Amino acid sequence: MRSHYCGQLNESLIGEKVILCGWVNHRRDHGGVIFIDLRDREGRVQVVFDPERADAFTIAEKVRNEYVLRIQGNLRQRPEGTENQKIPTGQIEVVCQQIEILNAAETPPFQLDDEQVSEEIRLRYRYLDLRRTNMQKRLFVRAQITRFLRHVLDEQGFLDIETPMLTKATPEGARDYLVPSRTHAGQFFALPQSPQLFKQLLMMSGIERYYQIVRCFRDEDLRADRQPEFTQLDIEMSFIDENIIQNLMESMIRQLFKHILNEDLPEPFPRMSYEEAMRRFGSDKPDLRVPLELIDVGDIMANVEFKVFAKPAKDPQGRVAALCVHDASKLTRKQIDDYTDFVGIYGAKGLAYIKVNDITAGRKGLQSPILKFLPDDALNALLERTKANTGSIIFFGADQAKIVNEALGALRLKIGNDLNLVQPGWQPLWVIDYPMFEWDGKEKRWIALHHPFTAPNVDDIESLQANPGKCLSRAYDMVLNGQEIGGGSIRIHHPEMQSAVFRVLGIEEEEAREKFGFLLDALKYGCPPHGGIAFGLDRLVMLMTGSTSIREVIAFPKTQTASCLLTSAPSAASQEQLRELHIRLRTQNTPNTQDKK
Ligand code: AMO
Ligand code: AMP
Repeated sequence: MRSHYCGQLNESLIGEKVILCGWVNHRRDHGGVIFIDLRDREGRVQVVFDPERADAFTIAEKVRNEYVLRIQGNLRQRPEGTENQKIPTGQIEVVCQQIEILNAAETPPFQLDDEQVSEEIRLRYRYLDLRRTNMQKRLFVRAQITRFLRHVLDEQGFLDIETPMLTKATPEGARDYLVPSRTHAGQFFALPQSPQLFKQLLMMSGIERYYQIVRCFRDEDLRADRQPEFTQLDIEMSFIDENIIQNLMESMIRQLFKHILNEDLPEPFPRMSYEEAMRRFGSDKPDLRVPLELIDVGDIMANVEFKVFAKPAKDPQGRVAALCVHDASKLTRKQIDDYTDFVGIYGAKGLAYIKVNDITAGRKGLQSPILKFLPDDALNALLERTKANTGSIIFFGADQAKIVNEALGALRLKIGNDLNLVQPGWQPLWVIDYPMFEWDGKEKRWIALHHPFTAPNVDDIESLQANPGKCLSRAYDMVLNGQEIGGGSIRIHHPEMQSAVFRVLGIEEEEAREKFGFLLDALKYGCPPHGGIAFGLDRLVMLMTGSTSIREVIAFPKTQTASCLLTSAPSAASQEQLRELHIRLRTQNTPNTQDKK
């Protein structure tokens, strides 16, 4: 139907006859002459209607925004003074000879160039929202990224293999989405939280190198970087160790950034232990672009009179840490008070600070609600350890280590943003040497920090069982600018070790057989050493397109409450369907429709 895309027209085609198809981006009536900006997926071009061509002109008069048109005309240079430097086709225009309205459009519910439209409206009319140039660009880049990743993996001999969507629960730590079975009354499939077990089974099948760009489903609390269904680039390899896979994967990501963004990432990516990441940044996904670090001061605080500090300083589960911000005089009293509320979100009970007005003036040069609790030697040791200077503010966190890490880790990023300290560029790293298990104080049991199929870094089962808390795993996460973009591990490939890990996790023999019997069996028939990783494709695309949420890079995302505003899913099922599925609802209340109107 067309000879060119609007956005691909350029001066070299001047004089040619062109046929274009697209949407009316904008129509202007300039007393006698009509201009239409015609838009297609490649861009837009100005079409001019001259009243002398009465038939075309009469039709153009009827046209409104978002009408779908087919235009035939001649490409010419724009008359001097009418060029538009802002668009790539700003030097040229099409003089229309023939116009055909392929379809009319009602007035859209929002202006496509309006940046202030609420996300709710955008999601409800997503098909219109996706007509915007920036949304189209994101989808383009996403397709470019997946094409390139497939290319790299194909070259390396990875096979693209599909795994089931209707399956059994895999424990990645979130709630499952369940699908009732019609043919097996009272039984349910789970949608996969990841293809973890299938990709391991493929290694046991001798596939050696597997990948898949695959949808995963997790019913968890949603945030800007989480969706209930999201896409992984899922990878598994046999006969490897962590160095081999890390090198291969970071090389793939380096090539990707070079190809798509012409950016050079470091070679190799730095590696940092979990322990170091938590100690210095309070996070296992540190944003290394922010030049602020947590400093332990527990030893200095252990004997001060202030119990709030002395108690966690003496507690093996506690932590007392400082965050020293230099040149912080710009921070107002109000900002500092707001930070106290901010760390409260993470459970911190306060945010003590010392403001250094004049480092040469002793106590008089300091301003702080806790000064009275600190004897001279402690105070001097603090100032020295934190390298505080005139203009510095030292913030303190004292509590259970988990709370201090989360609170000061988040404060570090917030202050980094508030004071414009975030350095430009890309800061990837591997976080390694994760603890194998974490003690869940509420449930009083060990839980797997990665997943229960991750290999411990010890081979003997006794030492694993004797001291689970001390055991490190062979897991690794790829972190980029403070986002976890991928996570993986070397897996357990001996059935005895797998059973032992289940035991530590409190999964009894019977339960293990019922849930993972197929895996335990498969491990008995010659399982190669293997490992893998999964990248969060949405997060990667979000970072590479400079977007603020993964919803911006997913064509049809869900809302914060996991619903689809476009299709009004989820929605009620008919009594007939429920009966077929052997389901009776506990209440007949209308389902929650709060964000679906
Ligand atoms: P993991 O659970 O770390 O590992 O997931 C891998 C990556 O997927 C992304 N991700 C998400 N993205 C968007 N929304 C979500 N709700 C969401 N949850 C996770 C993250 C994360 O790094 N089977 C293992 C991988 C392996 O061991 O090979 C797994 O799924 O970027
Ligand atoms: P208070 O004596 O309770 O007024 O606390 C003195 C200062 O210590 C205040 O600035 C509090 O914000 C701060 N503070 C209280 N609890 C903690 C804590 N757990 N960690 C860090 N600072 C705290």
